[in-house]
Parts: sequence; structure tokens; C-alpha cells
Amino acid sequence: MTLRRVAVLGSTGSIGTQSLDVISRHRDEYEVVALAARNNGALLDMQAKEFGVSADRAVLAPTDRQLAELARLDDVDVAINAVVGFAGLPVTISALEAGKRLGLANKESLIAAGPVVAKARAAGGGEIIPIDSEHSGLYQCLRSGGTSEVRRLILTASGGPFRGRSAESLAGVTVADALNHPTWNMGAKITIDSSTLMNKGLEVIEAHELFGIGYDDIDVVVHPQSVIHAMVEFTDGATIAQLSMPDMRLPIGLALGAPSRLNEAFGTIDWTSLSQLTFEPPDTGAFRCLGLAYAAGRAGGAVPATLSGANEIAVEAFLAGALRWNEIAEVVEEVMQHDVGPADDLEDILAADRIARERAKKVLDKRLADRRTQ
Ligand SMILES: NC(=O)c1ccc[n+]([C@@H]2O[C@H](COP(=O)([O-])OP(=O)(O)OC[C@H]3O[C@@H](n4cnc5c(N)ncnc54)[C@H](OP(=O)(O)O)[C@@H]3O)[C@@H](O)[C@H]2O)c1
Repeated sequence: MTLRRVAVLGSTGSIGTQSLDVISRHRDEYEVVALAARNNGALLDMQAKEFGVSADRAVLAPTDRQLAELARLDDVDVAINAVVGFAGLPVTISALEAGKRLGLANKESLIAAGPVVAKARAAGGGEIIPIDSEHSGLYQCLRSGGTSEVRRLILTASGGPFRGRSAESLAGVTVADALNHPTWNMGAKITIDSSTLMNKGLEVIEAHELFGIGYDDIDVVVHPQSVIHAMVEFTDGATIAQLSMPDMRLPIGLALGAPSRLNEAFGTIDWTSLSQLTFEPPDTGAFRCLGLAYAAGRAGGAVPATLSGANEIAVEAFLAGALRWNEIAEVVEEVMQHDVGPADDLEDILAADRIARERAKKVLDKRLADRRTQ
């Protein structure tokens, strides 16, 4: 195999460090040629030294333009987008326009800018290999049949730390409670999104954008063990599932090497200790973000950008102690009620995201002011 050169953007986070771990174990196959992070300069410097990346290609707090440039450097074969939030958009667009392989962990960019990302993919000829475990699972299951043979996609959800709780009992949960994910160790934003099931909702939109399947044919099932990551039901009734113990290095390895699999196993199942795999429907009453995401996806246009932008602001406020957990869905829903503009090009998406954030901040400020006068 020829050496593949990799840009890891968002290198200091959960996905970024795991990507570098995989590469460090397979240095004869992969070489790191660019890195970027926002705050953690000390770790970024260490990573640059360890992987021999020059200072001009290990960029702390990059501008949008710098992020885009790193993703499309001539000698980059694979750009891993491990940035969190809408800030990852320049990486997604730039890598695809430049015809690169995009290892996509950053779901927010695809969700907010689906139509624009699709245009960039078509124009530049770049390919997306998903890193999100559910979508990597779907990517693997879909190797079993053609698109016209797919009846439905099924995404599994662990249910997060609050599975089984009633809406009333969730009103007073703390940030520490919400960060205590039962099966995955991830960055703070996605962990909160998992606790609200917004993460699963975002993943439904992501699945639609990646695989072109309609929302009526994408289902979510709660599977607390997080061993089955996704399933595809085909027209003849066969369901193909992808199973592995939770370990993001498996999908990262596939994004680096696809169509080949990594010659090192992560997440191997010990069938002697795995006693049960259980399934239950999601509680869309207590976890309203899932329904909001389906509604945003079905509405299309700039509505997913609005959902995602408002959610980022609400999650930040919750993490800062300024918003209650159950108010995250309320803020997102309130912002979604406003008309949004078109989503024809990047400017539209940037505007929709900015407006959603401004509206979410206004809704938050009003809530805080009301609380002070109560
Ligand atoms: N963690 C998982 O297991 C997992 C699974 C599936 C999907 N994802 C998705 O993968 C993405 C990353 O998640 P994560 O859990 O790895 O997040 P994380 O641990 O918070 O890491 C985020 C990374 O992005 C960097 N970053 C943030 N803003 C940036 C900017 N403007 N420019 C450059 N770098 C920036 C951060 O740098 P600093 O740390 O230096 O600030 C950090 O390296 C998210 O979209 C998430 O939904 C994650």
C-alpha cells in the first residue's frame, strides 16, 4: 500500500487524538502532514513534534481560510474533520472541492450545509467516508446490497445517561449527570447531545445526506449496549447489522484505509461475556430533540442549519450552567419557529447559522431575565 498523507484537523480532541493513535500504530501506511486545534497549544506542539509536522502546518486557532487551506494542501490524501461544531464547515467544503477523501467525524457541517456539501462533492469529486460509528456501520452494511435494494436504515442509540427517565424527573439534572455517558467517552458537546437524543436526530439528518435515503425510511432504535451500531434492512427482508464494542478507532481506521480494512482489530467482541442485546423504542416525549431533528430534516433548506446552530448555543449555555437541561429542546424549538431563508449557497448557510445563533442568544437572554425577576 502506498503511504497515505493525512491532515488531522481538530487534532487535540477525542476523535483527533484517536486518529493520531491509529496513525502512530501504522506509520508504514499513514503519515501526518497537517494538524489544527483551537485552544490546546501545548498538545498541538507535542503532536507536531511526534509526527514531524512543520510549524506552518500545525495551526492553533486557525481562521476559516487557514482550516480550508490545510484540508486541501496538495500533498493531503485524506482530511480527517475532527473539529467540533459548525466551525468544521471549511474543512468539509474545501476537502471535497479539492477532490480529497474526507474522513468525516464533524456531523454539524453536513447537517447545516447538506445541499452545499453535495454540490462541493459533485464539483470536486471528493469522497466522504463517515467516521461517526453509526454511519460507518451503515457504510459497512451497505456493501451487502445496492441502493435500490435498501428498504430502511436503522440507527441505534445507547439512550444516553437518562434512558428510562420521565420528562418530569429530567428537569433538575446537572451538567455532571449529563456528561456521564454510559458507553462512549467523547467530547463535551456530543456527550450533551447524546443525553438529549439531539445527537441521534443529527445523525438521522447525516444519514439522509450521506446515503440519500428518505426520512420515512430512517428509523432509530434504542440499544443500550452500543454493540450494534447500525442496521440496513433490504427489500428481501434481510437485515445486515454491524457489531463491535464501542471503539472509535475502528471507524477511523476504515476512513483512513477504505475500501481496505485496517490490519488491527479494535472493539473485538468477546461472545462469552456478551450476555444480551436489547432494543426499545426511543421516548420522543421525554427526549424532544429527536422529533425536532426529524422535523428540521423533513423541512430541509436552511432549517437543519437553524436547528444545529440553535442547539450549539443552547448546549454551550447548559454547559456554562445558564440553562436547564430540559430547556435545550425548548430553545431549539423556539428558534426553529422563525422563518429561515434559502440554502442555495454557502452565504445562505452562513447567514442561517448566524441568525439561528443570534435568535438563540435572544431567547436565552429573555429566559435569564425572566428568571431574575421571578
Ligand atoms: N468523540 C466521539 O466519539 C465522536 C463520535 C462521533 C462523532 N463525533 C463528532 O466528531 C466531532 C469532534 O468531536 P470530539 O468529541 O472529538 O470533540 P472534542 O473532543 O471537543 O474535540 C474538538 C476538536 O476540535 C478543535 N476545534 C474546535 N474548534 C476549532 C476550530 N475553530 N479550528 C480548529 N480546531 C477546532 C478542538 O481544539 P481544542 O481542544 O484545542 O480546543 C479539538 O481538537 C464532533 O462533530 C462530534 O459530533 C465525535
